[in-house]
Amino acid sequence: MRILVVMDPVERVNIDKDTTFGFMLAAQARGHELFYCQIEHLSARGGEGWAHVAPITVQAEHHDFYRLGPWVDARLGDFDSIWMRKDPPVDRAYLHATHLLDLAGDALVVNNPTGVRYANEKIYALQFPEFCPETRVTRDIAGIRRWLAEKGEPLIVKPVDGHGGAGIFMLRPDDRNVASILETLTEDGARWVMVQQYIPEAREGDKRIIMIDGKPCGAILRTPREDDNRGNIHVGGRVSHVELTPREQAICAAVGPRLVRDGLWFVGLDVIGGYLTEINVTSPTGIREVAKLTGFDPGVAYVEWVEGAVAARKAEAVAGA
Ligand SMILES: Nc1ncnc2c1ncn2[C@@H]1O[C@H](COP(=O)(O)OP(=O)(O)O)[C@@H](O)[C@H]1O
Ligand SMILES: [Mg+2]
Repeated sequence: MRILVVMDPVERVNIDKDTTFGFMLAAQARGHELFYCQIEHLSARGGEGWAHVAPITVQAEHHDFYRLGPWVDARLGDFDSIWMRKDPPVDRAYLHATHLLDLAGDALVVNNPTGVRYANEKIYALQFPEFCPETRVTRDIAGIRRWLAEKGEPLIVKPVDGHGGAGIFMLRPDDRNVASILETLTEDGARWVMVQQYIPEAREGDKRIIMIDGKPCGAILRTPREDDNRGNIHVGGRVSHVELTPREQAICAAVGPRLVRDGLWFVGLDVIGGYLTEINVTSPTGIREVAKLTGFDPGVAYVEWVEGAVAARKAEAVAGA
């Protein structure tokens, strides 16, 4: 296959931890031809999506981990598959990049741009309320303060478009910082925040479950540092191997078919104490840690799934012609 990877600058990749780099290693090992670009290289000519791309080869060597060939203009529809792996935030430029990826013709774009636009990583989880902790999404500062006083126990507040642990605060009923935290996060009531019951099991860790084509394909536990509330690897969470509990298997079984229906084929579920807290659809991570801890590489499973999906598309096109 000819595969285009749309990502953040390749020279900044951490080759031991980066999931996109893991996908590229797996795809190359399976004989596929890789191309690289960033979202700024996407464009349209009439109804056709185009990109300025460079062929790329990768290797797991710190001193020399990628080589680019000559940059050329390419039609998006001439790739078999395009992997949108730009990291959040989902800002205006990100959304416009997904609009250009809508013009990719027959190329299989993962995740589906429509699905990525549809599913806010935090609010989408609320479509499965039976698995969520008690949650409100609101801009109403006074309302949040009343709820905190009524409950008399800590709440977690987070921006609805945050990622990597940024902007996550614990609100305590007796803390005089509460009003200021809420004014800052909501920008004085102009932005929605997610307020959530604090789940004490977060001290043990936040489970990341990798979902490929709606099925669980490995999981890791991210345990916060003693001096932090957040388990994100990015802010120092410690990673260990875990199995799925029956409740987590039930979450996967409930969410999986919806993910497939929404074109969200590579997804990371976050589960704390058996509660679903986030459905990461933009550029989920975690496969390298799973591979290291278990010997099973979800990157290979992902590439195999893409191979099958691209072949199925081609067979359909032939049958339809
Ligand atoms: N309801 C909660 N209770 C306890 N801790 C939480 C809760 N929600 C988030 N956290 C902590 O914050 C971290 C990041 O939360 P998450 O909702 O996954 O946002 P992000 O997009 O920043 O990863 C989690 O790993 C967890 O440690
Ligand atoms: Mg998370």
